[in-house]
Amino acid sequence: MEDLNSRYGLNQAHSEVVQACHVVKPCGALDMGCSSGRNALYLSQQGFEVTAIDANPQAIATLQSIVDQENIQTIRPQVYDIQRAALQADYGFIACTVTLMFIDAARIPAVLADMQQHTLPGGYNLIVCAMDTPEYPCPMNFPFTFKPNELSTYYQGWELVKYNEDLGTMHNGARLQFATMLARKPQ
Ligand SMILES: C[S@@+](CC[C@H](N)C(=O)[O-])C[C@H]1O[C@@H](n2cnc3c(N)ncnc32)[C@H](O)[C@@H]1O
Repeated sequence: MEDLNSRYGLNQAHSEVVQACHVVKPCGALDMGCSSGRNALYLSQQGFEVTAIDANPQAIATLQSIVDQENIQTIRPQVYDIQRAALQADYGFIACTVTLMFIDAARIPAVLADMQQHTLPGGYNLIVCAMDTPEYPCPMNFPFTFKPNELSTYYQGWELVKYNEDLGTMHNGARLQFATMLARKPQ
């Protein structure tokens, strides 16, 4: 299969998106904070029907241009502010990788509740987000970071297919913990 990410100078899909595809079967998916679409392109090549949303119109224009050039029928790029917490459809898979930390902390409960509400029964949420912990204070000035065990408490009643708060490294070398979760909504 041709690698569209390389062709358009995009990074490879986030490793957690790739791993999630070993569990989540192709379905209607939402890529929240898609940027130029590295994950959306991967998901579409795996057979998902992807709605790809980002607040940055330039990122959405870049992805739209790739979609047009490649005549991809299975990605719908849309400018959308996640902070609205007003999704308009239901999805089998919602992926939100390294994006929640850019959201106003006061909007996080509403955003997570909206994601959960718009996940189909038996569907999945994938979240990767920076943390701020006593052991590893977040060295970046993000508007939002998770505290220890905070993300899992939002997902009580869901099956935590994967959950960890492991140490990771940003592109700039900063060391911090990330909350990583693949959770399945009850049927
Ligand atoms: C670090 S990038 C992550 C991109 C992608 N999820 C990935 O894994 O490569 C964060 C993205 O979140 C988007 N973003 C930040 N705040 C947003 C908001 N309020 N609504 C929608 N997108 C937002 C940014 O424009 C940016 O494209």
